Amino acid sequence: SKNHHYDFFIKEANYTRLCREKTILTVNGQFPGPTIFAHKGDVVVVNVYNQGDKNITIHWHGVDQPRNPWSDGPMYITQCPIQPGANLTYTVILSEEEGTLWWHAHSDYDRTTIHGAIVIHPKLGTAFPFKKPHKEIPIILSEWWNADVNQLLEESRKTGGEVSISDVNTINGQPGDFFACSKNGTFKAAVESGKTYLLRIINAGLANDLFFGVTGHRLTVVGTDARYTKPFTVNNILISPGQTVDALLHADRAANGSSNGRYYMAARTLASNTDIGYDNTTATAILEYTDAPPAARAGRPDSPTLPAFNDLNASAAYTAQLRSLGSKAHPVDVPMDVDEHMLITIAVNVVPCATGNATCEGPGGNRFAASLNNVSFHLPTLDILDAYYRSVRGVYETDFPDMPPFVFNFTDGNVPVERWFTKRGTKVKVLEYGAVVEVVFQDTAILGAENHPMHLHGFAFYVVGMGLGNFNQTTDPATYNLIDPPFQNTVTVPKSGWAAIRFRAANPGVWFMHCHFERHSEWGMDTVFIVKDGKTPEAKMMRRPPGMPRC
Ligand code: C2O
Ligand code: CU
Repeated sequence: SKNHHYDFFIKEANYTRLCREKTILTVNGQFPGPTIFAHKGDVVVVNVYNQGDKNITIHWHGVDQPRNPWSDGPMYITQCPIQPGANLTYTVILSEEEGTLWWHAHSDYDRTTIHGAIVIHPKLGTAFPFKKPHKEIPIILSEWWNADVNQLLEESRKTGGEVSISDVNTINGQPGDFFACSKNGTFKAAVESGKTYLLRIINAGLANDLFFGVTGHRLTVVGTDARYTKPFTVNNILISPGQTVDALLHADRAANGSSNGRYYMAARTLASNTDIGYDNTTATAILEYTDAPPAARAGRPDSPTLPAFNDLNASAAYTAQLRSLGSKAHPVDVPMDVDEHMLITIAVNVVPCATGNATCEGPGGNRFAASLNNVSFHLPTLDILDAYYRSVRGVYETDFPDMPPFVFNFTDGNVPVERWFTKRGTKVKVLEYGAVVEVVFQDTAILGAENHPMHLHGFAFYVVGMGLGNFNQTTDPATYNLIDPPFQNTVTVPKSGWAAIRFRAANPGVWFMHCHFERHSEWGMDTVFIVKDGKTPEAKMMRRPPGMPRC
């Protein structure tokens, strides 16, 4: 394995989208940010210099960081922020991951513009489990706001109301040529007939599950979240914030009887709850055949065909096809004996408006909140990792509940008003080293059911089950796939349904778990696992490196 070095300068830069110039925070002036390239098993050292004017941290999404929570990045969970003028060196330890991951800011709403791809190739001397693609094309899906997003966030913290929705979805930072002043910037991917391309697709957005497809072409999914899948071919994929999909595109337009030289790639929101506002724009990019005659490349590409905004059946049908590859080189290892069973309800709630404000802009004049097992996570002011390491008291409590504190018909829409309320707390779950954990996430309809992309730091997990309605402890485990379930770091818990995951807690440290919809995480849809040290030296957390920022 090899060491790679990157310098990330956090700084402001001016970008124009939708005809307006705006100052955004970037890495090295780039938006989207630079791509990190590595091979499986490599170590990537990233020096982050904060030349902006606000506190920031960076997270390496989907990297397990074995024994090294110190470089994981979530603000006030594993570190204090890097203050303006300060710097921090992150050691990103790649172990089992192979495929596509990404990095993003993990402070306030900074990840809106501070994100980029991590491309992890097979170890030297090993190969992809499919024919080597002619080229690889990173596709970062995201959103653009005309307003300053952190200002919107500040406002919502004051009013207790919703954070406004984005103005447009984007592909590689661009909305595409359906939008004013956007034609020249539209992302273009050049391809040649007869060749196969690997699309490394990332949903870096804050708020939307997205359908993505390429007009006139099918996609063969070969991986998700940097683990290989059994290949399956679809017209469109569905990708939630936090997830990645590796898909092969065969440039076969002639074989399909088409004479066009240009095709749209397109991304559009799947709104699992259409009662709340969502970004209803369609972002496009262009796939261009360089060997097509100029006339065929001049016209307007055919309009993209994607499922409807509310097509939950299309999304469920897609997700049901995900299976771990399970080859000799990429075996499946689902833990069979569970040590810790947890059932965790997911809810959007309210808390009373803070004193000083007469009323807030959330439901019933209250403040929006969100919870896991009715605990609305409250970020401490000293990071939990440091508090754990140095045994500082009063920063967190260890009584995060294993079960919902009260049982009701979780997925029924008529939830009595008293159930809307939750309580804030900084509660964590402590695990023995190596314990096998099964978490069943249960969506609730408290203030409206919707999908939730639940993300775990420090581990990938097997998604062993998924279903609609209330999880039934007696009958649903019999439906689990314990043979070849997908191995992911972000699972989309279906609206008014449940998802069951399993992982082995063989990574000592402090690991955040949260909804990857940014407003839900901000409202408290989060918790933390503390995994204790094991007995052997290889089972102990690394020592605190020098140079960690102070709060
Ligand atoms: Cu991609 Cu905690 O985040
Ligand atoms: Cu959520």
